[in-house]
Amino acid sequence: MEEQFKKIWGEKDESGFKEKHAPVLSIDEKEMKISVAVGKVEHPSETSHFIQWIELLDEEISLEKIYLSPFSKPKAVFYVKEMPRNMKVRIFCNLHGTWQSL
Ligand SMILES: [Fe+2]
Repeated sequence: MEEQFKKIWGEKDESGFKEKHAPVLSIDEKEMKISVAVGKVEHPSETSHFIQWIELLDEEISLEKIYLSPFSKPKAVFYVKEMPRNMKVRIFCNLHGTWQSL
C-alpha cells in the first residue's frame, strides 16, 4: 500500500504526510461505483487545511473531478458507465499539493 500512490506536485517534499493523503479506493463493480476517501488516516477538513478536489482518471484522461470544501468530508463517490481500464485518482490538498494513486 505504501507505494501505491505518490506526490506529483507540491513545493515541499513531506513524505511524512503520506498516511493522510493516500487516496483509498473502494470499487463496487455491480453498482459501477467508485468511492474514494483521503487517506488511510482521514485527512483534516478545516478552513486552513482541506482537500480541494478529488479526480478520477483513466490513464491521463479525466473522467470526473469533484470539488470539496472545508465543510465536506474528504470523500467522493463516482458513478461510471464502464470501469476505467487504468484507473487513477488524484487529490489536491491546499497545503500539501497533488497526490495520485499509481
Ligand atoms: Fe494536507
